Amino acid sequence: MRLDGKIAVVTAAGQGIGRACAEALLAAGATVHASDLRADLLANFGGSTTALDATDSAAVNAYFAGFDKIDVLVHAVGYVHQGTIEETSDADWRRSSSITLDSAFYVIRAAIPKMARPGGSIVTIASVASSIRGFPKRTAYGAAKAGVIGLTKAVAADYLKDGIRANAVCPGTIDSPSLRERVEALTATMGSREAAWKFFLDRQPTGRLGTVEEVAAMVLFLASDAASFVTGQAMAVDGGITV
Ligand SMILES: NC(=O)c1ccc[n+]([C@@H]2O[C@H](COP(=O)([O-])OP(=O)(O)OC[C@H]3O[C@@H](n4cnc5c(N)ncnc54)[C@H](O)[C@@H]3O)[C@@H](O)[C@H]2O)c1
Repeated sequence: MRLDGKIAVVTAAGQGIGRACAEALLAAGATVHASDLRADLLANFGGSTTALDATDSAAVNAYFAGFDKIDVLVHAVGYVHQGTIEETSDADWRRSSSITLDSAFYVIRAAIPKMARPGGSIVTIASVASSIRGFPKRTAYGAAKAGVIGLTKAVAADYLKDGIRANAVCPGTIDSPSLRERVEALTATMGSREAAWKFFLDRQPTGRLGTVEEVAAMVLFLASDAASFVTGQAMAVDGGITV
């Protein structure tokens, strides 16, 4: 699963799953271009870095115009709104759709003309909270991530003959900075931090959360030529949630 000589682009690479993906691609020998909304989070990354708001279509187009060829694209931008449908306002729905689904549309559309043909690999970070499975308090998020899977599969179908693969990785509950923020937010509504952690741990049959490295390992596989016969798939990395 070496990526020597390959050009990789990773969004939301400032922290969490996106950062772990960028580090894994870098360690595999790729030249990695990392972007994130927050430039401060990219300061300690070993590859090239750019501040990019992936919900800004014009900014995304301008960013990708700067590339001649891209071998690997990993799109990790996403936002978890917590709420049942009655707890989801119009603004919540729009924000969730914008950050999670619109960003994937803008980024893949801008990157496609630059993807290596054949040999390009697109990996989106979706979720098992999507068309795969319903979870409590994941109305807007689950709908948007289902859209990411549908978008990824449609791209896979359209560019199959060009030799560009597109796959979605669907994590379970992964210990990341944003997961810890969600625990804090739930602590306020559920009354205790223990109850909030239990809310997340109860979803995991293994009794533990996944790590960002465990997700990045699947991303690296899909990015590499080792997965040359794999396209249009939604690959769960979920510690048995969907067993
Ligand atoms: N952590 C989990 O349990 C889990 C589970 C399933 C799927 N996911 C998905 O994995 C991805 C990463 O999640 P994480 O938990 O590592 O999140 P995280 O919050 O720890 O990291 C998200 C990163 O995205 C960046 N970002 C936010 N909005 C952006 C924008 N508009 N443009 C560019 N960058 C932006 C943030 O600055 C941050 O660096 C997301 O798509 C998330 O939905 C996470």
